[in-house]
Amino acid sequence: MQVSTSHEKWSSRLTFIMAAVGSSVGLGNVWKFPYEAGVSGGGAFVLIYIACILVVGLPILIAELTLGKQGQMSPPNTMRTLAQREGRSSLWQSVGWLGVLAAFMILSFYSVIGGWALAYVPKFISGDLITTNPDVVTTEFNTLLASPAQMLAWHGLFMVLTIFVVARGIHAGIEKAVDILMPALFFILLALVIYAAIAGDFGRAWSFLFAADFSKITPDVVLNALGQAFFSISVGLGAMMTYGAYLPKDVKIPRAATIIVFADTMVALLAGLAIFPIVFANGLDPASGPGLVFVTLPLAFAGVPLGGFFGTMFFVLIVFAAITSSISLLEPVVSWAEEHKGVKRSLSAIVAGFLIWLLGLLSVFSFNLWGDVHLLGMFERFETATLFDLMDFTTSNIFLPLGGMAMVIFASWIMSRETTETDLGLSPALYKSWLFLARFVAPIALLMIFAYNIFG
Ligand code: TRP
Repeated sequence: MQVSTSHEKWSSRLTFIMAAVGSSVGLGNVWKFPYEAGVSGGGAFVLIYIACILVVGLPILIAELTLGKQGQMSPPNTMRTLAQREGRSSLWQSVGWLGVLAAFMILSFYSVIGGWALAYVPKFISGDLITTNPDVVTTEFNTLLASPAQMLAWHGLFMVLTIFVVARGIHAGIEKAVDILMPALFFILLALVIYAAIAGDFGRAWSFLFAADFSKITPDVVLNALGQAFFSISVGLGAMMTYGAYLPKDVKIPRAATIIVFADTMVALLAGLAIFPIVFANGLDPASGPGLVFVTLPLAFAGVPLGGFFGTMFFVLIVFAAITSSISLLEPVVSWAEEHKGVKRSLSAIVAGFLIWLLGLLSVFSFNLWGDVHLLGMFERFETATLFDLMDFTTSNIFLPLGGMAMVIFASWIMSRETTETDLGLSPALYKSWLFLARFVAPIALLMIFAYNIFG
């Protein structure tokens, strides 16, 4: 196969960090984290989540970025080159392929939810959603879900935006997008938290998020917290590997990874602090699941002054966060295509984006036409799981942890110590800590959680 490594490089350390934070901060932070925390009892989930991020997520993120920086190519080709360099089987490239598959699957449903958020912006601006009548909001949301045509259109628009950015390349596309969207996102979020602190019940939200009720912890909660940690920091798939491949040699990865993980966790917690104060102030249920942001929150906004304006801003925030993530899901695929002679970035972005949109039909129909299709219904755990639920579960709870495990094992056991030691540029003590976490703690934690889930 003819491959070329001449990808564009990030213009600066700062744009790389903004792009990587943009990848990690997404629907996972503003939509999924609050509702997962909500249904799993708040504080206990938050605590386990943070532990997963620090002990498993951060060492793996460092490993994944390092692989990318060393290989300088898309995940399949990076893994193949690095395995060759270390004299190992070219089968290692299957880690890259698993990532490409996961990217297709995740983006296909990610874009459907991103489409809901897009749809909510005009609904808020027109005032349709600003009502304290639960029936009206529920009907509004259910009507959207019940209409394959509407959902397909919004999902399509979301994919078009994603394709547009990725097609333009690193400098003209991704960097430009994150340069505008990330600062905007930051200011909107800050404004929303301040607003929630003034208009909502901040104290209750605080204790909900930070007072741990350990009776709520089950193996399922731990697996979900782990899956959520992987999903939220974009690790285990090769998105970060791809972004790492565009790094100039002099950027030190551990610092960058720490900033990414810190920013991501802060945004998840701040999103909780923007949402729950208003939810509690209106006496609504924090444990309302996936509908938390789309049904509970509009009701909550309608009950507070200036709710229409801040509600609109909240959904603009979700859209911005989702776009800077979705581009990082399309990029590994396009990056791989680009490595073939004569393949144009714009064309591959359009083709891959279209195929992903098609795959998204499975998710779209899960909410209406195929709402009763339960492929794995014979297993108690998946009794009510739709195709959408199954894709979410398979990717977050199986593919990403598996990919992450393979990457961290490769970086810590197979790559030569000299390579990682010089490349990471850590003090001896910190390097040894990383090595210990990467070699033992992260893989063993992952194995235990897997085993618990299969046999427990
Ligand atoms: N991290 C993003 C979020 O929280 C989603 C995402 C983007 C992602 N790129 C990824 C998840 C790569 C896993 C792997 O919404």
